[in-house]
Formats: sequence, C-alpha cells, structure tokens
Amino acid sequence: MVKIYPSLLSADFYNLERDIQKVKDIADGLHMDVMDGNFVPNISFGNPIIKAVKENTNIYLDTHLMIDNPEKYIDSFSKYSDSLTIHYEATNHLDRTINAIKEKGIKAGVSINPHTSVYLLENILNVVDSVLIMSVNPGFGGQSFIEYSYDKIKSLKEMIDMKNLNVNIQVDGGVNKDKIKPLYDAGATEFISGSAIFKSNNPGKEIKLMKEQVKWKISILLHQIITN
Ligand code: DX5
Ligand code: ZN
Repeated sequence: MVKIYPSLLSADFYNLERDIQKVKDIADGLHMDVMDGNFVPNISFGNPIIKAVKENTNIYLDTHLMIDNPEKYIDSFSKYSDSLTIHYEATNHLDRTINAIKEKGIKAGVSINPHTSVYLLENILNVVDSVLIMSVNPGFGGQSFIEYSYDKIKSLKEMIDMKNLNVNIQVDGGVNKDKIKPLYDAGATEFISGSAIFKSNNPGKEIKLMKEQVKWKISILLHQIITN
C-alpha cells in the first residue's frame, strides 16, 4: 500500500547499473524523470535509458514526463514504462492523452506543478490511476520541499474520497524519511525520492527506513481494531 520510488535522476549516471542494484530489491519501482528543456528548464534523459533499464531488469518503471505536448510521445514511452505520468500544464487535451496512455495497457497519471490547484483535476480524477503532486518546481533534484503541498494533498484526498474513487496520490520533490509520515497522514501513499535515497551512504537502508515511518502507524490501527 505504501510505495517508494527512487528517482533515477539522482543516481550516478556513470554507474547506473550499480545504483539500480542497490535499490532494486526494496524499492517498489524506479521513477524515471524525463525533461525536455522546454516544459522545465533542464534536460535529463529519454526513452533509450528507460528501454535499457526495462530490458535488463524486472523493476516497475514509473515514468514522469516533464515535457511539452506529451501526446506526441505516448507510443514510444509506453513501450518500456509501466506507468506514464503527464503534466496537466503540458497538454491541451488531457482527457485524450490520458486515454491514449490507458489504451496502451499501462497506468496513467496526471501531475500538477506547485502553483496549480488540485480542484482543476475534479473531472479528470474519474479517468486517471494516480495524481502526482509536485512538491518542488520541477526541473531539478535536490530542491527544498514546498510546505503548502500538505494542504494540496489533503484537499485532493477529500475530493477523491467524496467521489469514492480509487486514485493513488503520489508526491515528488524534496521527500525524505522525515516527510513520509506527515505526507501519509495527509493522504499520499506513493513517495518519490531522489537525492535523499541516492546521495545517502546506504540507499537500500534509506528506503527501508522510509517504509518503517508508516509501518508502525498501520500496526497501531490494526491493534485498535482488534482490541475494540
Ligand atoms: C523534479 C523531479 C523529481 C526529482 C526528485 O523535477 O520530478 O522526481 O528527481 O528529487 P529529490 O527527491 O532530490 O527532490
Ligand atoms: Zn519526478
């Protein structure tokens, strides 16, 4: 139920295989940040890297397209990704693009930048598998978490529950182990983390610690149910 996706953006690009080995048994998948230099002021990597990882591992690949007009690239990115997340701000026809992703048989997510209101997603919630809340302005790893993201997650969670939908809330940017519990309490269940994992001395242990932040909470809830 709680998922941790390390962002490959913060791995050592000269040693990708080594860094993937460090996390592959404990992570729930890898988050693949694709940046085009237009939608965001940075260029990262494209489909050849995603293809190489897909063909050499069995890790779930959660691809985050920070590119303008993502509809042009759904055919190629859907070949090697298990889920594709596009930005609300990057496409004119979000419903059509989300449906194009789902037609490929993979999961479809929508992401919003910090300034974008969650209420703009009210209708598209009926169609997506997940919403990715950006808790930094996208473009770079290692930035500081934007505190008002908590309120956005709470409002989004309320909207999802009101509609009785099964949509996962992901959070991406400045996430470290100290943020996991408050973010989980706000309603997020899927956590993307780059620098806190790959820049640590022991990335696998860091993920384990992240998962433990909410484990105790789940056990207390179970205990309460049993003893009541
Ligand atoms: C930012 C990317 C994030 C980033 C997270 O544009 O979408 O996925 O890699 O990195 P940290 O956890 O270092 O903020
Ligand atoms: Zn990302």
